[in-house]
Amino acid sequence: MFTTAGILGFVVFAGGVFAQKTGVELDEPMLRGGGMRGQGAMLRFGCSQVVVERLDPLVNPGLNPSTHMHQIVGGNAFTPSMPYSDIAQLANCTTCHFKQDLSNYWTANLYFKARNGSYKRVPQIANQFNDYDNAGLTVYYTSPGKGLTTAFKPGFRMLTGDATRRTSENLGRKMQQCYRCYTAPDFGGALSSPCMDPKYDTDHFPTQPCAGGIRSNIIFPLCWDGKNLDSPNHRDHVAHPVGGPTSFSVVNGTCPSSHPIKIPQVMLEVMWDTTPFNDPADWPEDGSQPFVLSTGDATGFGQHGDYVFGWEGDSLQQSMDNRCYLRNCTLLTELAPKVKNECQVPVTVDEDIEGWMTELPGGGNGDK
Ligand SMILES: *[C@@H]1O[C@H](CO)[C@@H](O)[C@H](O)[C@H]1NC(C)=O
Ligand SMILES: *[C@@H]1O[C@H](CO)[C@@H](O)[C@H](O)[C@H]1NC(C)=O
Ligand SMILES: *[C@@H]1O[C@H](CO)[C@@H](O)[C@H](O)[C@H]1NC(C)=O
Ligand SMILES: *[C@@H]1O[C@H](CO)[C@@H](O)[C@H](O)[C@H]1NC(C)=O
Repeated sequence: MFTTAGILGFVVFAGGVFAQKTGVELDEPMLRGGGMRGQGAMLRFGCSQVVVERLDPLVNPGLNPSTHMHQIVGGNAFTPSMPYSDIAQLANCTTCHFKQDLSNYWTANLYFKARNGSYKRVPQIANQFNDYDNAGLTVYYTSPGKGLTTAFKPGFRMLTGDATRRTSENLGRKMQQCYRCYTAPDFGGALSSPCMDPKYDTDHFPTQPCAGGIRSNIIFPLCWDGKNLDSPNHRDHVAHPVGGPTSFSVVNGTCPSSHPIKIPQVMLEVMWDTTPFNDPADWPEDGSQPFVLSTGDATGFGQHGDYVFGWEGDSLQQSMDNRCYLRNCTLLTELAPKVKNECQVPVTVDEDIEGWMTELPGGGNGDK
């Protein structure tokens, strides 16, 4: 099993030393802990923002604008409605670190609700070790060993989490989405793998101001029915192992007979810089926390992630089978941040996304 626990201990030490590096060199402090890579593969890489807008080709195909705001990363073939054909052939560029990954990934935006009732989007910022990314998120793909997972097929897509959830799933150490409250600047408090210890991570928004911002992790299921690229709710063609959801980077459960094919574990990691919004004078007078997802969710239980596969050819399968680790993967082509950051999808929904707003884009006031 892999864990980022020990790895992340290097962070503070590494910050200044590797600040000018832009590729696999940034992973050096983590690669030095190579003993924890075992026989498996774990890609970890940043994808910059490709567009921020109110579109959702999975849940609301063709609806422009869709119901809530997202930040989208990855290839430039992202459109209001995405075909089931090979996305890697439709996109010409990607904001992801590896040129071969033309997939799209998207998650809900976060807003701060000030005491006067106005909303402002919380900036999504580059993750630790992903210096110079333009906002975006970090993607992980994990597989326990050669031939032990089957990469996704062209046209595959899935959604995980439930935008309408407002209560805990009570999964404890196996929670599939979680928030880390960084207790100090520069990712201070990044002690252990995400979602594995309710002491550090919660499935609801942190209730206190976070001095280093908030991290959100979303883990996708491990098992696929082997047939369908999608399903009506975008969830039923994938499933958790028979023993239930597994923690991040543990890809070892037994898949149910209905979903016998084990797929790489996908995890998304989002960083929100909530630090401009930590003034207690602007927090709600009743002691509650002030952040709300673009869906209107003020609990955080409704965090969810969307994925449309778009890797070129068998590049993802090869990366999983050849023990690629973090960004150390000679099979793949690295893109410098300045190159990937140039890839953009033109905005098609004309609305203010950065100013102070009287309601969330698409309506809603955080009471849902
Ligand atoms: C990178 O991966 C290659 C091939 O798996 C391995 O031989 C090498 O030691 C790795 N580099 C580091 C710095 O871990
Ligand atoms: C990619 O390039 C092809 C060929 O030039 C073009 O037809 C297509 O529209 C481009 N796709 C995007 C998303 O820009
Ligand atoms: C609401 O409060 C925020 C934060 O203090 C402030 O920046 C904004 O201008 C206020 N909006 C209105 C309409 O008063
Ligand atoms: C999966 O791996 C975890 C962590 O190494 C271990 O605790 C658990 O027993 C394993 N489960 C199975 C079914 O192998």
